[in-house]
Amino acid sequence: MDVMHVILLLLLLVPMCARGDARAFLAWLPDALFPISPKRSVEDLPQDRVSNEIRYGFELFRNTALYLGPQGSVGQYLGNRTNCQNCHLDAGTRLFGGSLRSAHGSYPQYRDRNANFITLSDRINQCIERPHHGRPLPLDGREIKALMLYMRWLGESTTVGERLIGDDLLEPPLLARAASPEKGRHVFATHCARCHGDNGEGKLLDHRAYLYPPLWGPESFSIGSSMHRVRKAAAFIKYNMPFGTSWKKPLLTDEEAYDVAAFIDDDRIHPRPLVDISHDYPDLIDKPLDYAYGPFNDPFSEEEHKFGPFEPIHRFRKGKGTVIAFKKQ
Ligand code: HEC
Ligand code: HEC
Repeated sequence: MDVMHVILLLLLLVPMCARGDARAFLAWLPDALFPISPKRSVEDLPQDRVSNEIRYGFELFRNTALYLGPQGSVGQYLGNRTNCQNCHLDAGTRLFGGSLRSAHGSYPQYRDRNANFITLSDRINQCIERPHHGRPLPLDGREIKALMLYMRWLGESTTVGERLIGDDLLEPPLLARAASPEKGRHVFATHCARCHGDNGEGKLLDHRAYLYPPLWGPESFSIGSSMHRVRKAAAFIKYNMPFGTSWKKPLLTDEEAYDVAAFIDDDRIHPRPLVDISHDYPDLIDKPLDYAYGPFNDPFSEEEHKFGPFEPIHRFRKGKGTVIAFKKQ
């Protein structure tokens, strides 16, 4: 970058930061500034023991159900026929689309949901238990090690503890109103049903795996999954859906993303698999704004925590000096 670029950057940065619009700033930056690693493909890795396991991890990540699903060739670990890649797009490399380049270097990590330190293998198994409502992979098995080796390879150019931009979902600003499942119904019919089905049932590739994942019902992510939180789902949807949307040119407005997330995640109309969430967030103060199951350490109802408006909850917490809304959750 030459001097002119630096000056230009500062001229743009100052007013953008003043407006608090980090998203506009990010979208303006040239792609070259984002290390979309790995540039290499697993195919280019040599034929050796480690590389073979990295390739196996990559394969498991993309075609999880074929190996670990209800008809999986390795064993029945998942409760549904979906894949890790359904939410961690491009095998965990899509910026703001569930990319996992910093994951290996981020663990062991304190997780509020557990009020404890967890390892990367714990975190992988948590995604197997919730979004896939399955049973944990054995820690001494080949599969969890291959998934971890794949993530280590994804993070090869990341330092331990570093969090790369793009590895956390980009959360749209809080709406002034509650997200509306009713409005979301229309967004869904217009922008989503053609792939995910009129009843969110998805579309099977063959009897063993989905091509388009179901968004509710018995084979979708279970309650207590991050995607079951309206704000997290809105963040994923806004910058990645309809499939093919780039985070730089989102199709949906913030309102549409929140509303369609509320429609998909509305338990009153869309049942999904249940798991035991009674031990989640033992420290009430750590419950995210959009975690919808009480008790809470604020006077807001489960419905308000589900759909918002989140702004008053945020303000209340701020008043009590317990702002946690914007810390990584
Ligand atoms: C239905 C969606 C969904 C599916 C399927 C899914 N995940 Fe996740 N996963 C998420 C979300 C959402 C997060 C949290 C992202 C955030 O909070 O920014 C996450 C987080 C993670 C993390 C933590 C990343 C970090 O940097 O801390 C790992 C590791 C992970 N998932 C691995 C997997 C693996 C392996 C599979 C397949 C066995 C899988 N996930 C399947 C939605 C999903
Ligand atoms: C062109 C087809 C298409 C359209 C249209 C589309 N999706 Fe998707 N969606 C996909 C595919 C494919 C995946 C899985 C990505 C993968 O496996 O690479 C996905 C994944 C998802 C996921 C995460 C996976 C999961 O199990 O929950 C959500 C949530 C989602 N879509 C919501 C939506 C919403 C909301 C809309 C409308 C705004 C939408 N999609 C429109 C094809 C589509």
